[in-house]
Amino acid sequence: DKGHYRHFMQKEIFEQARVIGNTLQGRIGQHKVLEQVFGTSAADIFDQVQRVQIIACGTSYHSGLVCKYWLEDWAGIPCDIEVASEYRYRKVVVSPGTLFVTISQSGETADTLAALRLAKELNYLASLTICNVPNSSLARESDLVFMTQAGPEIGVASTKAFTTQLVSLQLLTIVLGRRHQLSAEREAELVEALHSLPSLCEEVLSLDPEVLEMSEHFSEKHHSLFLGRGPQYPVAMEGALKLKEISYIHAESYPAGELKHGPLALVDSDMPIVAVAPNNDLLEKLKSNLEEVQARGGMLFVFADKDAGFKNNGSTKVINLPHVPASLEPIIYTLPLQQLSYHVAVLKGTDVDQPRNLAKSVTVE
Ligand code: F6R
Repeated sequence: DKGHYRHFMQKEIFEQARVIGNTLQGRIGQHKVLEQVFGTSAADIFDQVQRVQIIACGTSYHSGLVCKYWLEDWAGIPCDIEVASEYRYRKVVVSPGTLFVTISQSGETADTLAALRLAKELNYLASLTICNVPNSSLARESDLVFMTQAGPEIGVASTKAFTTQLVSLQLLTIVLGRRHQLSAEREAELVEALHSLPSLCEEVLSLDPEVLEMSEHFSEKHHSLFLGRGPQYPVAMEGALKLKEISYIHAESYPAGELKHGPLALVDSDMPIVAVAPNNDLLEKLKSNLEEVQARGGMLFVFADKDAGFKNNGSTKVINLPHVPASLEPIIYTLPLQQLSYHVAVLKGTDVDQPRNLAKSVTVE
């Protein structure tokens, strides 16, 4: 049931504050993650983790990419990540003490499931899945299961599954990090930020009318470039995937620092550039990358922290977001990118919930 929404995707975008609350419900205390929520055998396994291998496809792969930044930065735990379709067909080297993690909304993605089955033949410590469908194949076949609690996702373009995956991966990073370099003080900070997440999501989702206005600049375009740095690079990748899959506009994503190594050649006045710009220690670097784009006539669309110093002018359209804790940036900045792709697709008149050539659950290779 779509309620008063026009599409399931739109409904699912607006559900995110609530379902993120559900994902956190019963999993965190005031200052701590309750690690027994990963299962009774989790503590023994987590004690032995020296490294993490993440496997997923599509949007779920993007949440895994963000987790790599978190695991290495906060926890000091090395993390590798690969798309399942590549991983399953090559010879891999497994380091001792590696936890094998799959991420999947459906729990039925053929390549991800094949990767898990292959991993069981290899020397991994154990397998864990972050999954949204109880009793799915991945949930049944993994040693540890952590459910995302996004509720059924009907729109083919994944939205609430992605943000609840990010929340779940943050909890995983914290319980693993505790056994490595993550202090109790840092954990308390991260958990306090998580408590504020649902209301911050609500606040950012209410920017929808501004995003709608911005979307009008895209409906006649054929190409677009999404830029981010650090954990916002996978967010830019996800923004580009959303736009291409439902609006059919060609969208590429780059870490902003890579521009001058090739993609800058694409930039002219017909190429809208979308950038995610939280106010963090990469902001000044990002700004100088964006100046190079503007010098080539590119039109900029920036989702920026209100204090990041971006101004609206003839060649820059800015949507200001509230300042949020750095740990929440990838989740928060994803929301307006989902809304942007939704509105562009509606303007173009595509079948938003059922884009051409795509299936919700990819159960064949
Ligand atoms: C994109 C999208 C797909 C899925 C991918 C993996 O919006 O939905 O890229 O993320 O097919 O699916 P799951 O997460 O079910 O394994």
